Amino acid sequence: MNSLEGKKYNIITFGCQMNEHDSETISGMLREKGCVEVPDKEESDITIINTCSIRENADKRFFGTLGQLKKLKKKNPDYIACVCGCMMQQQHIIDTVKEKYPWVDIIFGTHNIHRFPELLENVYNEKQKVMEILEDREEIVEGLPSKRLYRHKAFVNIMYGCNNFCTYCIVPYTRGREKSRKPDDIIDEVKRLVADDVKEVTLLGQNVNSYKGENTDGSICDFADLIYRLNDIDGLERIRFMTSHPKDLSDKLIQAFVDCRKLCNYIHLPVQSGSSSVLKKMNRKYTREQYLELVRKLRAAVPDITISTDIIVGFPGETEEEFEETLSLVKEVCYDSAFTFLYSVRKGTPAAEYEDQIPEDVKHERFNRLVDLINEGSAAKNALYEGRTEKVLVEGMSKKNDDTLTGRTEGFKLVDFEGDKDMIGQIVDVEILHGRTFSLTGRIK
Ligand code: 5AD
Ligand code: SF4
Repeated sequence: MNSLEGKKYNIITFGCQMNEHDSETISGMLREKGCVEVPDKEESDITIINTCSIRENADKRFFGTLGQLKKLKKKNPDYIACVCGCMMQQQHIIDTVKEKYPWVDIIFGTHNIHRFPELLENVYNEKQKVMEILEDREEIVEGLPSKRLYRHKAFVNIMYGCNNFCTYCIVPYTRGREKSRKPDDIIDEVKRLVADDVKEVTLLGQNVNSYKGENTDGSICDFADLIYRLNDIDGLERIRFMTSHPKDLSDKLIQAFVDCRKLCNYIHLPVQSGSSSVLKKMNRKYTREQYLELVRKLRAAVPDITISTDIIVGFPGETEEEFEETLSLVKEVCYDSAFTFLYSVRKGTPAAEYEDQIPEDVKHERFNRLVDLINEGSAAKNALYEGRTEKVLVEGMSKKNDDTLTGRTEGFKLVDFEGDKDMIGQIVDVEILHGRTFSLTGRIK
């Protein structure tokens, strides 16, 4: 029997879908070792905190949670506390963890997730702490198990890392340079998922548009080629992807939206700012006009495409006029939804050194104006759905209500409607009754 058999584990995940998916992999590997997942860290023998360095306040929440593990360690001498993820790719964070939270047993980063079970066994067997971090690896480790959060939809990494070095962003430092998986490996994984009841896959990468996988004959498969190949997989119903960098969005990909039935008419296209001068300082490599042109082309090719975005407010040096350019871009595009971020300093990035940081009160004031405008746009867009019939993949029961199902339209809109739980996993026709700011409600047709 291995030393992990029967151990109870709990994973706490902060951050983006990439992190959620890493947690699915960690969970899959632990299950393979005979461990059992428990819903609450208080009941666990092993807690893993998967950290994020992008989201605001992620570090405060992380250190707060880490503090709570001390009492679990006291209660159970065999208890093991592990931390992993993006934050652990930064030396100053590791130093803080080691110094102030000495009860942590294992620290590992984003490049060596596959070694986690082995590290854990070492800790059980040798009773010593392990710190396995930092180095970027050359090759991608294939074939790791995964325990999915949803039965009928899955996340599939197609590439890792980022080469873009936007001046505010820590990701290129924590996730390393871009590496693409081979298309055959991705297709095999998706086929296996489909055989296991998955209807929808979301392809993940920091910038999927620069995907370049190597075919068996040595030629290159670009992102649009990959979509065409996935579109041919029998039994797969929906393909989504995130995230797209506007500078790399090709006409070929826009054509793929037209040609590939399974590619959902939805794109997350982070703009970050509506001002060309701010975009230049952010090192985004496109202008406001180029972004708007992309939106125009997407809508010309796919009239009902839904578009979401990310926007940063209060980037160093952002003037009121530049901020107003963001407002006017938001009005012009009329996003279906948007994630808004207050600019916050990330140690080690170029923008952290810029001297013209924006005062917090100004950032907040701009943020509120922006959110109001975005919500107005989302409500207006969602109202247009009233009376339409949408194809909805039923994801599960609503958290709020026992006889309510919840699912997503092709355009990624959340819909609540009454129905039976037997429908989970099916794609059903739902007539939309109300369009609200953040979701729709409807009834089965
Ligand atoms: N401050 C605020 N927002 C940031 N993002 C990335 N880095 C920062 C930062 N330092 C946002 C960007 C990105 C999203 C995932 O997080 O908008 O698209
Ligand atoms: Fe960060 Fe820019 Fe890379 Fe996105 S594209 S992960 S914002 S550096």
